[in-house]
Amino acid sequence: MDIVTTKKELQDKINAWKSEGRVIGFVPTMGALHEGHLSLVKTAGEQSDVVVVSIFVNPTQFNNPDDLKTYPRDLDKDVEMLEKYNVELIFAPTVKEMYPDEDKRQFDFGNLDKVMEGKFRPGHFNGVAQVVSKLFDYVKPDKAFFGEKDFQQLAIIRKLVRDLNMSVEVVGCPIVREPDGLAMSSRNQLLTPEMRKNAPVIAKTLSESLNFAPGKTVKETVDFVVKTINDTGNLEAEYFEIVDGDTLQAVNNWDDSDYIVGCIAVFAGKVRLIDNVTYK
Ligand code: PAF
Repeated sequence: MDIVTTKKELQDKINAWKSEGRVIGFVPTMGALHEGHLSLVKTAGEQSDVVVVSIFVNPTQFNNPDDLKTYPRDLDKDVEMLEKYNVELIFAPTVKEMYPDEDKRQFDFGNLDKVMEGKFRPGHFNGVAQVVSKLFDYVKPDKAFFGEKDFQQLAIIRKLVRDLNMSVEVVGCPIVREPDGLAMSSRNQLLTPEMRKNAPVIAKTLSESLNFAPGKTVKETVDFVVKTINDTGNLEAEYFEIVDGDTLQAVNNWDDSDYIVGCIAVFAGKVRLIDNVTYK
């Protein structure tokens, strides 16, 4: 497994693999790796000839400077974890390498980024699109693997790929959970023991809400989820929306769509956790 930090070193490797006709699988990450990332790496290994992982905490997608400052970083530990997998290359660039000049590009995702994460984290998805489009351009992957925990991000990356006519296949991979149900996230390590004890209520409540449809209305389901979470110490729901899984626009009735997903963001103290559940 090689570790490179420059675009030039990365592209030399990629060009060699491309000339041999090898299928390149790519897992973009911000490091602080956990089992969720490793499951992406594993799936990438099953579906490609070579696996490239990027580790880069992308400043342009953080709308909160404190969040960027406290975001966990441990490259040595990440490398150690990846050594157990079939990863050919880690790309771990500096900010200067990725952004030699300010990236002024503005992406238009229509209504996809006007809701949920996009509403509460202005500019976040533009930053994600900036870095992912650069990474796709450098790595030229045949397939790229993203977790379904970031449900809205996945929808936006699929749109980005369509809009920019990129020839990469975007593969969504299921959420990986702790034994108590908490969705794996790099941010979980920032939780105090008390918050960590309460955080599984998020997944448990989402799972309980599956029994609501179709007997109870969408609004009753939203109220139940928000109230249950807010009644739990240390947890405060920022939003819970039940949306069409393709358009990400809120539905009012269970009959409004054939694909319905509930997406949530919850603050545990200053730590922001997201999760989702598919109703149908
Ligand atoms: O999901 C993430 O970890 C990040 O948003 C990504 C896709 C690596 C872009 O920085």
